[in-house]
Amino acid sequence: YIPHFSYHPNVIDHYENPRNVGSLDKTNPKVGTGLVGAPACGDVMKLQIQIGEDGKTIEQAVFKTFGCGSAIASSSYATEILKGMTLEEAYNIKNSDIASYLKLPPVKLHCSMLAEDAIKKAIEDLQSKTNQPTANQQK
Ligand code: FES
Ligand code: FES
Repeated sequence: YIPHFSYHPNVIDHYENPRNVGSLDKTNPKVGTGLVGAPACGDVMKLQIQIGEDGKTIEQAVFKTFGCGSAIASSSYATEILKGMTLEEAYNIKNSDIASYLKLPPVKLHCSMLAEDAIKKAIEDLQSKTNQPTANQQK
């Protein structure tokens, strides 16, 4: 059996030792929840962020992903970089930032897209609770 591609060690690392797996209380007004599914493969990712007292810096980020290794690695890596970011910085994370760190091959790019979508949904959920305009209106 010859696989189509081999995984970069950064993927294996996050897949074998996922960071920040868990759940936050989604009724907490400081918590935003993003739940997304990938039409391409049926995988599901839940990513949650919690903001600190200043109302804009992400203090905590956790995820639960039912999916492939690249999706798990993408969400794990995303939660690592989210901590300490402002909501605006987080809204500007691109799936290409994640994919290039993990060196995802083209067929696995939608896995990192899932993480980008989950981050945006989590921020939008948070802002809908606090009635603030979205950090970045353009999609
Ligand atoms: Fe189903 Fe990614 S295709 S796990
Ligand atoms: Fe579908 Fe990775 S999220 S194959």
